Amino acid sequence: MTLYRGTVLDTPDDPFTGGSLRADADAGLLVRDGVVRERAGFAGLAARHREEEVVDLTGGLLLPGFVDTHVHFPQVRAIGGLGLPLLDWLERCALPEEARLADPSYARSVARDFVSGLVQAGTTTALVFGAHFAPAVDALFTEAARVGLRVTSGLVVSDRLLREELLTTPERAYDEGLALARRWHGVGRARYAVIPRFSLSCGDELLASCRAVRDEVDGAYVTSHINENVREIATVARLFDLSHYLETYDRHGLVGRHTVLAHNVHPTDAELKVLAERGASVAHCPSSNSALGSGLFPLTRHLAYGVHVALGSDVGAGTGFSLLKEGLQAYFLQQLLSEQGYALAAVHLLHLASAAGARALGLADRVGDLGVGKRFDAQWLRPLPGTTLDVALRHASEPEDALAKAFALGTTADVAAVWVDGDEVGSRAREVGAGAGAR
Ligand code: GUN
Ligand code: ZN
Repeated sequence: MTLYRGTVLDTPDDPFTGGSLRADADAGLLVRDGVVRERAGFAGLAARHREEEVVDLTGGLLLPGFVDTHVHFPQVRAIGGLGLPLLDWLERCALPEEARLADPSYARSVARDFVSGLVQAGTTTALVFGAHFAPAVDALFTEAARVGLRVTSGLVVSDRLLREELLTTPERAYDEGLALARRWHGVGRARYAVIPRFSLSCGDELLASCRAVRDEVDGAYVTSHINENVREIATVARLFDLSHYLETYDRHGLVGRHTVLAHNVHPTDAELKVLAERGASVAHCPSSNSALGSGLFPLTRHLAYGVHVALGSDVGAGTGFSLLKEGLQAYFLQQLLSEQGYALAAVHLLHLASAAGARALGLADRVGDLGVGKRFDAQWLRPLPGTTLDVALRHASEPEDALAKAFALGTTADVAAVWVDGDEVGSRAREVGAGAGAR
């Protein structure tokens, strides 16, 4: 057993429905076989477990590992394509890079960059948009398993309106998807998701084949994009003669508790109602929405309808892997919406980045907070001495103030160590070594 000592902050009780921050200033977490067995004041816990190894994480904050509910594996090298709206950005920045993943050895090197990017950011669980090529998706699952990341992913499919190399057929999508799911779903920390890219690039037969794979794979997830950009929405409306965008997925049975739809910047009330009824989740991707000029996310309306919302980095339209940054961007945007915005506090940001994501991914019984019975998926936010975040944390007035400072100032450079199931999967020292040898 290992006894971790530190300042532990988490949000087991949803702050959007009255919960508050759980903060233990000098806490001990007793971890055996990757599970938190006891959580109590350090002094008392240490007195009762004198023989256990103590890992001293005092200074900084011990937080749950982040849960990124929307991030694209093939786009890690496409980050930073600024100044274009969605459809132009796809054509000019994202899709040329995605086409390169047809080469399995290129895909393997991108998988290394991608998984290490997530872990460096303190993300321990992710719902990942895979690639359009089955061997590349295989490379992603292989690398996630090697590193230890908790990943839900799958083959991305499209059969129209994208560059030719990225297109498939309903039959091939079914065969390749099922083969990948049989190889990876439920193996270690991996799970399978069916991933129609968006209705703009997916005809009805392809969406039906996604449903068929999902039905074959018990516990599989569904993820896609929705209502991100006004030109995209108008095109989808022309392609499908339906009352709204959500219906393109819903009429194929693809909207349910195991569904996460990214963006939803421009939903109708009818769509919010259906999302809530189905128990589906929305991945809010604030830096991407700003970078592509997609629009202003109506969080208050989602909450009013009871739609579950979590956070996504949406790399590579998003501008990095850090959910600290996404939390801050979410906060900024709601502030700018003034009376239509939701007054987010630091506790909401932590919840959106951790427990809300775990719930969206059906993993709330295992991860998302650091309570007794949960897996020890954690990150130690420990800024280097003398940095502004270090100064800010040392002068924080109370735990919520410290957390707000972490969201305001924290970056991936402040993530000193990361664990999944109690295994250390990343540390600042190790990253320096890895970076030096990587190409
Ligand atoms: N819609 C379809 N594909 C994509 C993508 O790669 N990124 C974003 N942000 N939206 C999309
Ligand atoms: Zn996306």
